[in-house]
Amino acid sequence: MKEKWNERYSQVGFAYGEIPNEFLRSSLAHVPLGKILFPAEGEGRNAIYAATLGWDVFAFDLSDEGKKKALLLADKHQVTIDYQVAEFDQVSFSQDQFDAIALIYAHFSAATKSDYHHILQSYLKKGGLIIFEAFSKNHLPLRKNNPSVGGPDDLDMLFSMAEIRSDFEDFDILELSENVIELNEGLCHVGTGSVIRFVGRKK
Ligand SMILES: C[S@@+](CC[C@H](N)C(=O)[O-])C[C@H]1O[C@@H](n2cnc3c(N)ncnc32)[C@H](O)[C@@H]1O
Repeated sequence: MKEKWNERYSQVGFAYGEIPNEFLRSSLAHVPLGKILFPAEGEGRNAIYAATLGWDVFAFDLSDEGKKKALLLADKHQVTIDYQVAEFDQVSFSQDQFDAIALIYAHFSAATKSDYHHILQSYLKKGGLIIFEAFSKNHLPLRKNNPSVGGPDDLDMLFSMAEIRSDFEDFDILELSENVIELNEGLCHVGTGSVIRFVGRKK
């Protein structure tokens, strides 16, 4: 897994672009600044954007090549972020440390994905936000038709709204939808995709 991501991130250019994910950008627009965590943040496009807004940014990812690119992007924008190279089950943040956590295309195996969502919730303050966008289970035929849109080809790594409701049952749902959208994110998310978007506030 680590080799796959290091290989992708050692190519020239940014796999998902330098521009933040659009749903993240619009979701953060009216949220008061604070501490934000970006798990599985790859080359850092979202984390760096949040830092330019004035957020205190923490990120982690299993890829050291991803971290190198993220730090280059941070330098380019003259911001600093705290970025750990670590797998999900190796990080440990404090309880209630964050005002927001942004999961953008953070896909994991069926055996781990709900557990990871539960672990993250403990890091979030009461009233804190989860901002989530990832491919839905209905994405598979679109990906088959156009591999350039990217995303896992394993149905179990994709999400349904029911799974999100269940994983985040202690959250007020501010937004939860499944949408077919046009993606134009760097080299690896290009074309029509089906995504789940979720913003939840911890009760
Ligand atoms: C599709 S990329 C998304 C990157 C970034 N969030 C973005 O939107 O540009 C998925 C990322 O998940 C990371 N990843 C996969 N499994 C992981 C794990 N167990 N722990 C930490 N990171 C992981 C990969 O290294 C990769 O950077």
